[in-house]
Amino acid sequence: MSDSKLTDLEAVALIAELAEEIRKHDIAYHQKDAPVISDAEYDALRRRYEGLLKLYPHLVPHDNNPEVLVGAPAANSFAKVKHKIPMLSLSNAFNAEDLEEFSKRLRTFLQLEENDAIAFVAEPKIDGLSCSLRYEEGVLVSASTRGDGNTGENITENARTIKSVPAELHKNNSFKIPSVLEVRGEIYIEKADFLSMNETRKHNGEQPFANPRNAAAGSVRQLDITVTASRPLKFFAYTLGEAEGIELSSQEELRAALVSYGFEINEPSRLCSSEKELIEYYNYIGDIRYNLPFDIDGVVYKANDFALQRRLGFVSRSPRWAIAYKFAPEQAITKINDIIIQVGRTGALTPVADLEPVNIGGVIVKRATLHNESEIIRKDIRIGDIVHVQRAGDVIPQVVSVDKGKRKSKGKKFVFPDVCPVCGSPAVRREGIVVRRCSGGFSCPAQAVERIRYFTGRKAFNIEGLGDSTAKELWEAGILKSPADIFRLKEHKEELLKRDGWGKKSVENLLDAIDTARTVSLERFIFSLGIPQVGTATALLLAKHYVSYGAFEKAVNSILEDTKHKDIEESAAFKELCSVDQIGVAIAKDIIEFYSQKHNVRIIEELLSLVDVKEYQNTKSDIDSVITGKTIVFTGTLSSMGRNEAKSIAQSLGAVVASSVSSKTDFLIAGEDAGSKAQKAKELGVAVLTDEEWQKIVNGVF
Ligand code: IVH
Repeated sequence: MSDSKLTDLEAVALIAELAEEIRKHDIAYHQKDAPVISDAEYDALRRRYEGLLKLYPHLVPHDNNPEVLVGAPAANSFAKVKHKIPMLSLSNAFNAEDLEEFSKRLRTFLQLEENDAIAFVAEPKIDGLSCSLRYEEGVLVSASTRGDGNTGENITENARTIKSVPAELHKNNSFKIPSVLEVRGEIYIEKADFLSMNETRKHNGEQPFANPRNAAAGSVRQLDITVTASRPLKFFAYTLGEAEGIELSSQEELRAALVSYGFEINEPSRLCSSEKELIEYYNYIGDIRYNLPFDIDGVVYKANDFALQRRLGFVSRSPRWAIAYKFAPEQAITKINDIIIQVGRTGALTPVADLEPVNIGGVIVKRATLHNESEIIRKDIRIGDIVHVQRAGDVIPQVVSVDKGKRKSKGKKFVFPDVCPVCGSPAVRREGIVVRRCSGGFSCPAQAVERIRYFTGRKAFNIEGLGDSTAKELWEAGILKSPADIFRLKEHKEELLKRDGWGKKSVENLLDAIDTARTVSLERFIFSLGIPQVGTATALLLAKHYVSYGAFEKAVNSILEDTKHKDIEESAAFKELCSVDQIGVAIAKDIIEFYSQKHNVRIIEELLSLVDVKEYQNTKSDIDSVITGKTIVFTGTLSSMGRNEAKSIAQSLGAVVASSVSSKTDFLIAGEDAGSKAQKAKELGVAVLTDEEWQKIVNGVF
C-alpha cells in the first residue's frame, strides 16, 4: 500500500518501525562499525521515514524518538555520550486537581502533618532541547543532548557557539569553582528570532520550521557548526547532573550559584509555600505568557529543599519532587468530512474524524480522535459538523466540542457500527464500559497482527525478525494465530523453508531469536500482555511489587474472586494493587478487566507453558549496601518514614521488596507492632533487622 494512503494507526506503526530500523542501523554503523545495509539503502530508509513525517505531521514523534528529529539533518554522525546521571523528564499535571494530588502524594510519602508546608520553586517551562554541559575545573569540556535519557549525542562544538553557554564558569566571591559541574538546561529560540529566521528561510526557498522547538533542535544538531553559530540559540540553566566539590542546599541557592557562574536562569520564578500560591503563580504566568519573549508550554514546580528532593527520589523516568503543570492545549475550528472506525490491538473500535485540514500551532491536522462511541453520543458529533480541535503535547489531536449553531438542519446522527469493520465479527460493548470491542479476538486480522507485533517488540519479548510484514504473512498463512504460536514456530520449520523469500539462514536466525527470547524478565512479560494502560513503567512497578508472576497472578485471582461477592474497592487484594506507588484505581481496574476475559487468561496459560518468566531482579544500583541484590520484606511501623519511602529507598539500594515472607526472603525489616510476618520469618530462619538497623542502612552505615 502507498505510504500516502495509510490510516493513522498504520502510519504510527510504520513510523515507529522505520525509526526502530534506522536506530538499529545507526548502532550497527556507529557503535559496532559493522553496517548491515549499503549507504544508498540507508538513505532510502531515511527518505521514506522523513516522507512519512511530512505526510502525517500530526503523528510526528518528538521527545520519545530523540534520535530521529524532524527538521534535523541525519543524526548519525554525532558521537554518543553516556550520562553518568540519567537525564530525566517530568511528570505532568493538566489541571488543579492533578496539582493537588501531586502535593498530597508528596505529603503522604514524607508523612508530613497537615500544616507542614513544602516550599516549591516555580519556573516557566520552555519547550526546547534539553542539554547537559559538563565543566571540569570550571572549563566547559563537553555538551550533550538528552537522547534517550541514558545516552545522548555529543554536541560540544555546537554548544560552544551559543553565547549564553559560558566557555568558563565565572569566578565570584560567593561560590567556589567545583571540580566537576554538570549544568543542565534548555536550548531554545526566542519568538521574534524564530519568526525572522523563518522569514529568511522562506525567502531563500527553504522549508520553514514548524515551531521554535523544532527550529532549536534542527539548529543544534548540525554537523556544520557554522550553521549552528548562525542561528539565534539561547540556553537557560535549571538543574544539575554530576557535581563534585560543591555543596548546595536548595533550588534557590542553586539558581543563585548558576547566575554567579554566568548562566541565564528562567524568569519570572517564584518561591511558593502553599497550594494556593502554586495556582496563583500558574495563573500569573498564564496571564503574561504572550508577553514573554519565548514560547512556554506550562510551568514547573520543584521542591526547594535538596534534603527533601533526596528523600523523595525518583519514579521510573521522572523525579518525584517536581512536576510540570501544562497550559491548556492550542485549539482550532474546522469541519468533519467523515468519521472512520479503526480497530486496534485490543479490539477497541476507535472513531476518528477525517477533518478539513487545519493549522494548529504550526502543525497541519487532518485527523482527530473521537475517543469512543459514548463520546460521540455525549458530544453529539455528526459528519459535516463544525468542531473545535486541539493538540495536547505529543498526543493525537482530539475533537473537543461541536459548534451546534453552525449545523445544517440535515445533519444526521452518527450510527456507530455494531460489527467490526475489519473482520465483520460482532462488535460488543460490555455493561459499564465505554469502549466497543470487536469480538473476533485473534481471528480479527487487525487485532491478531497488531498484538503479535506488540508482543515481539523491543520492549516486550524483543524478537528480531518478526516485524510487521513477517507477522502479517505468518498470520495469513495460519501459522501464527496467537503469541503462544511464536514459541511453537519450530514445529513449522519445514513449512517456513518452503516459503518464498525465506532462506535457511533467515529461518534459523528467527528460530534462534525465539529460543533466546524464551527466558524473559517479569516486567517484560507483564508489559507484553498488552494490558490497557500498562506500559513499561507500570509493568516495572508491578514487577517490583509482586516480584514473581505467581504472586501477581495470585493477587489478581483473589481480586476476581472477591468481586463475586463484594464491591471491587472493598477487596483487600485490590487495595494492595492500588497501593503500589503510582498505580491508581483506573489502572488497577483495567488490569482486572483484562484478566476477567477468558481468552486473555487462556493465552497467558499457554504462554506460561512455553516460556520461562524470571523473578524480578533489581540490577539498577551503583551503591553497595547489605541489602543490594537481596529480597527484603517490611513489616510493622518504622519510626522515621512511611512504607512507600522505605520501599523506594530499598529499591534504590538495589533490593527487591516483596510483600510476604518466604524461604526466598533475605531480610525482614521489622518496625513497631510487627505481627505474623515476624513469626513466619522466625520459623523460616529469615534474618530480622530492627528499625534502628534499617536507619543505619538508610544512612549508609551498613
Ligand atoms: S527541571 C529531572 N525546569 O521540560 C528533570 N525542566 O517535560 C528536571 N524543561 O526534560 C527538569 N523548562 O527539558 C526543568 N524550568 C524547567 C524546564 C524544564 C523546560 C524541560 C526539560 C525536561 C522537560 C520535561
